[in-house]
Amino acid sequence: MKKLVFLTGAGMSAESGISTFRNSDGLWEKYPVEQVASIQGYMADPELVINFYNRLRRQLLQASPCLAHRLVASLETDYAVTVVTQNVDDLHERAGSSHIIHLHGELLKATSTLHPNDPSQVVTLREPHLDIHMGQQAKDGSQLRPAIVWFGEPVPMIEPAIHEVSQADILVVIGTSLVVYPAAGLLHYAPPACKIYLIDPADVSYDPSLGITHLQTGASEGMKKLVEMLRKGS
Ligand code: APR
Repeated sequence: MKKLVFLTGAGMSAESGISTFRNSDGLWEKYPVEQVASIQGYMADPELVINFYNRLRRQLLQASPCLAHRLVASLETDYAVTVVTQNVDDLHERAGSSHIIHLHGELLKATSTLHPNDPSQVVTLREPHLDIHMGQQAKDGSQLRPAIVWFGEPVPMIEPAIHEVSQADILVVIGTSLVVYPAAGLLHYAPPACKIYLIDPADVSYDPSLGITHLQTGASEGMKKLVEMLRKGS
């Protein structure tokens, strides 16, 4: 089976009703990124940040996977598929993808403030205990925090992601502005023979030497085209 790796960003979930970050009505227009998505912001006002992610988590429960998520999952019948996502939602999981690497953490998980990357500290948040509260302790006794990788923090899942991309026969990048590193640098680990597709309605800027085929359209429309192209072997 050929190895097919997806690298997805916020545009992947836009059609599910989840805001992107850098579009004109994106999340970072409404909330200063330094305040709600950096370790410094969390340390300065943990309650504000915890409540911000509590709200996002509740919004996520109202959303459903879109056609693009389902088409990504459907390709598992013909390809060895890995999804590397920058998204913190669980829409790839709910659409049925089975091998998912979350580079920037997961909204439905919580961890310790002291040792956020220690897997034994991570817990899954479920109704009726979906929210994190101030004073709620992780297993090590520190404040429980969202299991999100914030700016200023290491990205431990980048190593397994590099490993996957470096073995890809086909790499498909969907809905990411490719401005946040190290995720954006993953494209450079694709082997020379790897075919790279980009699905995004915007003029995303990328290294032209990568020989990318840009399907300049939304995620679901683009995935329909891609499935067709893969079927024809193009
Ligand atoms: N289908 C596909 N792509 C879309 C759609 C759509 N329907 N709508 C918008 N897009 C594209 C935009 O054109 C843009 O290129 O999705 C991209 C979203 O870019 P960003 O908002 O910058 O999101 P992303 O690249 O995922 O951000 C990376 O930055 O803020 C941090 O940690 C956060 O994981 C996030 C990271």
